[in-house]
Amino acid sequence: MKDLTQKIISFSKKKGFVFPSSEIYGGFNSCYDFGPLGVELKNNIKRYWWQAMRQNGNIVGLDSSILMNPIVWQASGHLTVGFADELVECKECHRRFRDDFVGEKCPDCQGKFTPSRKFNLMMKTFVGPVEDQASQTYLRAETCQGIYLNFQNVLQTMRMKVPFGITQIGKAFRNEINPKDFIFRTREFEQMEMQWFCHPKEADGFFNYWKEKRIEWYLSLGVKRENLRMVEVPKEERSHYAQRQIDLEYRFPFGWKEVEGIHNRGDWDLSNHAKHSGKDLKYFDQEKKEKYFPYVIETSVGVERLFLALLVSAFQEIKGGREGNAVKEEEIVLAFDKKITPFKAVILPLVKNKEEVVEKAKDVYRELASFPVYYDETGSIGRRYRRADEIGVFWAITIDFDSLKDQSVTIRSRDTMKQERVKIKDLKECFIKEFFLTG
Ligand code: GAP
Repeated sequence: MKDLTQKIISFSKKKGFVFPSSEIYGGFNSCYDFGPLGVELKNNIKRYWWQAMRQNGNIVGLDSSILMNPIVWQASGHLTVGFADELVECKECHRRFRDDFVGEKCPDCQGKFTPSRKFNLMMKTFVGPVEDQASQTYLRAETCQGIYLNFQNVLQTMRMKVPFGITQIGKAFRNEINPKDFIFRTREFEQMEMQWFCHPKEADGFFNYWKEKRIEWYLSLGVKRENLRMVEVPKEERSHYAQRQIDLEYRFPFGWKEVEGIHNRGDWDLSNHAKHSGKDLKYFDQEKKEKYFPYVIETSVGVERLFLALLVSAFQEIKGGREGNAVKEEEIVLAFDKKITPFKAVILPLVKNKEEVVEKAKDVYRELASFPVYYDETGSIGRRYRRADEIGVFWAITIDFDSLKDQSVTIRSRDTMKQERVKIKDLKECFIKEFFLTG
């Protein structure tokens, strides 16, 4: 299974999904860049998550800053109680490791380890020209803190009534001791977080509601149920803010690993920010004349981890190729759900040495250019189909000699390889129906 991870890493680079960061300088540990296909996939994942959240109703968005007043992290407990991993250092070579990732001896030189100690994961930085204690702050370690700070602003400007939610997508940073497994654990990553504010008495019910909703969401992207599981985290292992915590795990080639956390954060955040800021962050229910700190049910997923899970889930290697395909060795098909696949279609002139066919194909391309499509005229038609399948293109649209007479094209489906004749004038409508009107 480790082989599959390696295969996916080199495939990602070869096809333009993920490149090592700063590659011409030898790379930079645990940092990655998303290439032309990667950025499309990432954007589609984020868009679909955002839409799904909004469709629940009573959820609004936010985009808060990465740099915040450092007191935020004091209040949230990230600098004090819980945001640290156990670190050990090799007495011989001085390499440092996360205690739970290594055995008794250093994997590099077999040296002995120091006793473990806490290592805070907040990423420090300085704002302004003087690098002293007063100018020190942190890159945010989770996006949700910006949501709590804006709780009252959102409540008032949008006239929200509890229960309601606020979503945010953005970068987060953690000074991980041992980033690993490609884009699974990195120091810079993106989170998609939703904070659902509710009455404390309704928190358990909403926790179960969101648990179900989130599983449904993964299934709606074609992830197989048997590759997903939910693990209830025992009290002693929970995050410092969580009263209840479920890790939603995916079966990666390197084992079952958390992709998303679902937490009941109680009133930990609002009450602590109220205490540290001196501001009233309670909610007043006009009808019941009741004032209280709402509880927060949180769903939090890392974009890159999800990206990797979806890539693994879509990656199919078919020895000898699919039936009817003239492939001798092995064929790769990226069976991404059509909602997130980087390109919905490719436009292909059957031949490139017939001017009228090429011109017609370019006309079709121009017609569809507002959709995520690309044009390809290099190589045999079979080769171009295969190249499109490899990057998950849902439809291959071929313009042939008959197209010049009947003003029609052939649409070939990635998954069934079936071909259908469609009038050029109906193509836009077909696109809208297939890709934008379905869930
Ligand atoms: N606000 C809650 C929170 O941040 P978390 O379980 O620490 O909870 C949520 O993180 C999600 O963020 C994880 O399930 C994972 O998908 C992603 N994540 C956390 N640390 C990460 C890292 N070092 N690299 C990539 N993704 C990470």
